[in-house]
Amino acid sequence: MPTLFDPITVGAFELKNRVAMAPLTRMRSDEDGVPKDMNVEYYAQRASAGLVVTEGTFPAVTGRGFWGQAGIETTEQALGWSRVAEGVHDKGGVMFMQIMNAGRVSHPELTGGATPEAPSAVGIDQQTHVPSGKQPIPVPRALEVDELPRIRQEFVSAARRAVDAGIDGVEIHGANGYLLHEFLAPSANHREDEYGGSPENRARFVVEVVRAVVEEIGGDRVGLRISPEHNVQGAIEDDHDDVRATYSALLAGLRDLGLAYLSVLYKDIDGEFVQELRGQFDGVFYLNSGFSEYTELEEAEHIMAADLADGVMVGRELIANPDLVERWRDGLELNTPDPKTFYLGGPKGYVDYPLAAARV
Ligand SMILES: Cc1cc2nc3c(=O)[nH]c(=O)nc-3n(C[C@H](O)[C@H](O)[C@H](O)COP(=O)(O)O)c2cc1C
Repeated sequence: MPTLFDPITVGAFELKNRVAMAPLTRMRSDEDGVPKDMNVEYYAQRASAGLVVTEGTFPAVTGRGFWGQAGIETTEQALGWSRVAEGVHDKGGVMFMQIMNAGRVSHPELTGGATPEAPSAVGIDQQTHVPSGKQPIPVPRALEVDELPRIRQEFVSAARRAVDAGIDGVEIHGANGYLLHEFLAPSANHREDEYGGSPENRARFVVEVVRAVVEEIGGDRVGLRISPEHNVQGAIEDDHDDVRATYSALLAGLRDLGLAYLSVLYKDIDGEFVQELRGQFDGVFYLNSGFSEYTELEEAEHIMAADLADGVMVGRELIANPDLVERWRDGLELNTPDPKTFYLGGPKGYVDYPLAAARV
């Protein structure tokens, strides 16, 4: 079996190891959504991960989900990302951008005044931080069928801008209860047209978005993240047979695209369902067990030794240890993540975690 520290080919890229930096929203941008020096430094610090996936980045302000989120809509944002990409490339890294439309998990103060858009006008009982403070998330507006091409095109244009800015590829965010996951999840998608109802219909829009992005930049530069049965943010998938049918329809719709990778967030990493998903996908398969515990070396090594996946997405340990790969490989002591600074803004808990070499 390959280990975490063995190289792997992912789409168009030869990666130096199988530890990938999971997408991590850190809310370190200003209102303009433009990556600045601090963001360049943060990503460059973590370039020894085989693949660096960016924070969920909005393709259009109407899909912004957090204050402080970075975007890939404007020229200034693209220029900022080109500096980030350069920083990662200078350190020998490969970087994909996670493109995220937050769907209903948003607020008009984040979306430039627009009512958040979703498959159906179904609200969630949740609050979000906006400039005026903590506010309830409003009931979203159901997208008309003739608006879907616009949403799809926003993903395509974002992918084009990212690649033109020097980012190596994109990861489409189909997880964690945001727009694309809302299409997949019966609790969020009450549509009665060809985008709702049956598993095939609920998978349809995600398939269309991924296909369109692949047409624009090539399958070997595109990954997809999914989180079946994650059951967060009101995207509830509690009928396992339906879940199997929905994600089978999704993966069947993508099978001929030559996607670079599929990234699966699923709690029961040892269970049958993960291998069922893996069997329906031909590219590189990354796994992550979700939020309940940090991905530690033991779990990451288990994923590799038991051949549960081809690589591991690692989040919080990489927040706290920019040089995590070296530390894991050489058995070095680890810094401890500080959850209070995950979303705080500013450099503390972002670019000031020390490197192992700096400790001795
Ligand atoms: C601060 C923070 C921000 C996150 N932001 C994103 C995100 O933007 N997109 C995404 O798909 N997942 C996001 N996640 C989930 C992580 O990618 C990862 O799946 C999760 O942290 C579990 O992995 P870990 O135990 O290695 O941290 C986030 C998690 C954390 C802790």
